[in-house]
Amino acid sequence: VSERLRVTVLGPTGRLGRAICEAVLDDPGLSLAGCVVRAESAACGQDMGGVLGREPIGCIAGVSLEEAAEQADIVIDASLPRMTVSAAERLASIGGPCLLTGVTGFTEDQDTRLLTASHQLPVLRASNFSLGVAIAEALVRQAAVLPAREWDIEVNETHHKMKTDAPSGTAIMLARAAASRRGVSLEEAAIWSREGTTGPRETGTIGFAVSRGGAMVGEHSVRFLAEMEELTISHRAFDRRVFARGAITAARWMHNAGQGREPGLYSMQDVVSD
Ligand SMILES: NC(=O)c1ccc[n+]([C@@H]2O[C@H](COP(=O)([O-])OP(=O)(O)OC[C@H]3O[C@@H](n4cnc5c(N)ncnc54)[C@H](OP(=O)(O)O)[C@@H]3O)[C@@H](O)[C@H]2O)c1
Repeated sequence: VSERLRVTVLGPTGRLGRAICEAVLDDPGLSLAGCVVRAESAACGQDMGGVLGREPIGCIAGVSLEEAAEQADIVIDASLPRMTVSAAERLASIGGPCLLTGVTGFTEDQDTRLLTASHQLPVLRASNFSLGVAIAEALVRQAAVLPAREWDIEVNETHHKMKTDAPSGTAIMLARAAASRRGVSLEEAAIWSREGTTGPRETGTIGFAVSRGGAMVGEHSVRFLAEMEELTISHRAFDRRVFARGAITAARWMHNAGQGREPGLYSMQDVVSD
């Protein structure tokens, strides 16, 4: 019996999936047990070592989630929402292993299906696997305390020029943490952008400012501006591998030294608050 934590990756050929596979292979405590790809994928039937530009490793990319799951202690998902939801439902019906997903962009219906699957399956969901961002989220929640209710919150983010959506999912998540601590919905509080004669700032709103340029992996700051002081919580990612590293930390947390977790929906907040 292997002492290593056996990981199966869904979507191993994508940007995030590749980084996760690399991080698994580089970690002596982990092994890459399976990789699930689409039948049309060029990687299908190929040794994943070769797909990643390495020596063969004996892990062949295949289409069967069930087969790959059987070999694994944990499934890490870096695919796309449709795949994530069907994988969660199938893993719930075969009794695991648990699922860690970094996928974003679920519809409301897909959200509900993922939540339903988590009644039978431990699922950790993170739109950002970085540990620093998870800690920043906890700090933002702490800073949005009631006595500082009147402080103006502004969320700034900068990303590389190829990013196509704005504000980033992480900026929205950080703002949502502040809003929920204040007992308001982000949708009510958000000022998504400003231009022209905007008038004075309305108390209680949460403003966003977005910059795009260069190769910046991701920078977020949440500013709490008061009459006579300012508190800023900021985070900068230097390397995309930060997401893969965080995913592995979360995988170990989910595995819980072989004890596993109860079925339910977990987040990076659980990982950093343990
Ligand atoms: N949580 C985090 O920290 C974090 C960080 C970065 C990105 N993300 C999120 O992770 C997701 C993937 O991002 P990415 O940039 O890696 O995207 P990507 O490069 O487009 O990769 C998506 C992967 O999913 C595979 N895939 C799609 N449908 C599939 C299916 N039905 N069955 C099996 N595999 C399937 C694709 O395979 P083919 O190439 O064969 O189509 C590809 O390998 C996005 O939702 C992104 O927002 C999260």
